[in-house]
Amino acid sequence: MDTQFFVSRGWINLLYLIASILFIFGIKGLTHPRTAVRGNMLGATGMLLAIVATFLAKGLAFPYVFAALVLGSLIGAIAALRVPMTAMPEMVAIFNGFGGAASTLVAGAVFLKFGASLAMQPIVATAASGLIGTVTLTGSLIAYGKLAEKIGSGAVHFPAQQVLNVIIAILAFACAVWVVTAPDNPNAYYALCAAAAVLGVLLTIPIGGADMPVVIALLNSYSGLAAAATGFVLDNNVLIIAGSLVGASGLILTSIMCKAMNRSLAHVLFGKLGPTADTASADEVYAGKVKATSAEEVALLFDGARRAVFVPGYGMAVAQAQHVVRDLGNVLESRGCQVEYAVHPVAGRMPGHMNVLLAEADVPYDQLVEMDAINPTMATVDVCMVIGANDVVNPDAREDPNSPIAGMPIIDVDKARTVVVVKRSLSPGFAGIPNPLFAMDNTLMLFGDGKKAIQELVAELKEA
Ligand code: TAP
Repeated sequence: MDTQFFVSRGWINLLYLIASILFIFGIKGLTHPRTAVRGNMLGATGMLLAIVATFLAKGLAFPYVFAALVLGSLIGAIAALRVPMTAMPEMVAIFNGFGGAASTLVAGAVFLKFGASLAMQPIVATAASGLIGTVTLTGSLIAYGKLAEKIGSGAVHFPAQQVLNVIIAILAFACAVWVVTAPDNPNAYYALCAAAAVLGVLLTIPIGGADMPVVIALLNSYSGLAAAATGFVLDNNVLIIAGSLVGASGLILTSIMCKAMNRSLAHVLFGKLGPTADTASADEVYAGKVKATSAEEVALLFDGARRAVFVPGYGMAVAQAQHVVRDLGNVLESRGCQVEYAVHPVAGRMPGHMNVLLAEADVPYDQLVEMDAINPTMATVDVCMVIGANDVVNPDAREDPNSPIAGMPIIDVDKARTVVVVKRSLSPGFAGIPNPLFAMDNTLMLFGDGKKAIQELVAELKEA
């Protein structure tokens, strides 16, 4: 397929090159909160340049393209404005899926129209795009359903599951070979998409609970690979580069997430996670051992504290309590207490979730301490306040080799002199398992909505 442009191909490739450089500097900017906004703008400018360059192609159905552009921009803008921070991972999951779908559709359209006349390279790329793009689409829809709790967030297992997965994977590869060997037969592409759609579902349903961040990062990488393959189908350099950047950065993020959870990728993809028959019930863990406290009592505790550490989690995001937490930190600091915020790499529901919230509340960067740095010092913390975190402070991950989250690094809050846990009930976190921290001798539970509970506490401290 040879694309003709209104200007020479050399100019188009120069624009694509500039766009690609902007993407790379954009990603670099996103590596630090201070430069993230600029990074985002650079990436967006690169994308605008790439779109303008692409519009210089002859023979495009411009009215349709513009209609799609307006509709897509509207949906994107409304989603970006309306989706709350806590639902961002769901949005990312859906966008990954749409990216995969777009690659499948574009490669499919080229195949159906020009299949018989395509050379070997674009045909192979078409098969790759259809396969990876469709797996990304259905896998992302399942990930979305799990994160949004439209379907159960737990792992789904059934007998001979791995065997069925292997059979469907072989079938999908066979269909890909069919596409390559029968480029004039539309049925080959339809069959490939059908098999890949089933494969995407099968590969994602066994992954449950706390492993979702890894899956989202991996699907993100797949969407990039599908886009890069479509770039080869269309012979479009910027799509190949942008797709490869997404593919590579998604893989790096996947590896960072795996390390943060101390799980191998194979274990995430094929292992089991979630409550098992051996997991202790909530009654066994909590009955008669949980001590509830009040804002008044916690204020007294803070009175004598010289070092306080806040450990935020998903519940702080739900309650939007980051600003009042910062107020609490200010009050404590004004009384001469040393205040730090301990950040777990997978606290919340997306990479960097807690950093974003705390930055939004103007918490100084030097008070944010990463898990590995704070853990060795936990024994010297007078009061450790856990705000809406659960799995990332569950000592079973460290102590119980049979726990579904065994081996996942945690913030060792249980080692602090006193732990105060702010949450609404004894409900489990994302992994769906009880947390023995809540029943420990040095733990007090401050039950209530995160924002309201901390507001009451600040009021108590100010009154005192
Ligand atoms: P979770 O283990 O999910 O626990 C959150 C806790 O917040 C719940 O137990 C809930 O208890 C409490 N909560 C909810 N709403 C609240 C409110 N309004 N006020 C106070 N508390 C509230 O959170 P975590 O410790 O941050 O761990 C994150 C988990 O999510 C990990 O398992 C992680 O693997 C997984 N995950 C992470 C990501 C990324 S990349 N960060 C993405 C997907 C999944 P109540 O209902 O009793 O209040």
